Amino acid sequence: MGDISNKLEKVYLQVREMTDFVPCVGLVLGSGLGEFAANMKVAMEIPYDKIEGFPVSTVPGHSGRFIFGYLEDVPVVCMKGRVHYYEGYPIEDVVLPIRLMRKLGAELLFLTNAAGGVNEGFAPGDLMLIKDQISVFVPNPLIGPNPEELGTRFPDMSEIYDLKLQRVIREAAVRCEIPLQEGVYTQLTGPSYETPAEIRMLRLLGTDAVGMSTAVEAIAGRHAGFRICGISCISNLAAGMSGRPLDHLEVQEAGRKAAESFSRLVKESICAMYRERSK
Ligand code: HPA
Repeated sequence: MGDISNKLEKVYLQVREMTDFVPCVGLVLGSGLGEFAANMKVAMEIPYDKIEGFPVSTVPGHSGRFIFGYLEDVPVVCMKGRVHYYEGYPIEDVVLPIRLMRKLGAELLFLTNAAGGVNEGFAPGDLMLIKDQISVFVPNPLIGPNPEELGTRFPDMSEIYDLKLQRVIREAAVRCEIPLQEGVYTQLTGPSYETPAEIRMLRLLGTDAVGMSTAVEAIAGRHAGFRICGISCISNLAAGMSGRPLDHLEVQEAGRKAAESFSRLVKESICAMYRERSK
C-alpha cells in the first residue's frame, strides 16, 4: 500500500473505533453554513484534532470537526471546517477528509463555499449552483503514485458536477423560492485575494466565481467515485468590481446574511437527493 492509502487507512480505523455511523452524504460546510448542524439530529461529533495524522486548520481554536447525524432521515457526515492549501498542507492532506468520507460509505459529496463574484450579473448574497470548475491554478491533488484501490489513474472529469444532482438543486431552489445563479467556479491558491487584472483574466477564461477551496476536493472526490454537487455563496464582488478593497470580515458578514436561505436550500436539496437516489 502507498503512503496515501496507509494514511487513509490509519485515520479510517481511528474513526471506526469512535463510531460505526455510515453516512450517505458527505457535506462540506463553507463559511456561512457553520451552524448547519442545528438542522440535524446529531449522533456523534469528532474534532479533527482527535484523529492522529489528520490535517487541522491552523486558525487557533478552529480545528474543525466531523458531525455525524440525520437530516430528517438522511444519514449525513458534515465537515465543519476544512483545511486550505494556503495553510501550508500538502495537497494530498487537503483532500484526505474527502477520501475519508468516501471510505466511511458516503456516496454523494455536497461541496459548499463562500466565493467572490466574477460574473458582473452577480450580487453579494447570491447563491450559485456550480456547473463546472477550473482548477489549473492549483496543484492537482492526484499527482504522485496512484493508489489504484482509491481510484483510476486518469479519471474522467467531463461531468465533475453530477447533472442529475444539479437538476435536483434547481428544483429545490424553485420549491424554496430561492433565486439561484449558475456558473463556473475557479480555485486559486490564495491566501491573498486576486488583483483586478487577475479577475479580468478569470472572467475571460469563463469564471463566474472565484475561491480558495472546493475544486481540488471535487477532483479527489470524483477520483474516489463520489457523485458531486456544489453551491457557492457569493460573499463579495471580486477585486476591482466594487471600487472598495476586499475585507475578510465583510466577506464573512455577507456569508452570515445569506446563511438562512443557503441552509434551507442545502437541506431541501439533500432530502430530495436521498429520495431520488435510486432513480
Ligand atoms: N476571492 C477569493 N476567494 C474568496 C473571495 C474572493 O473574492 N471571496 C470569498 N472567498
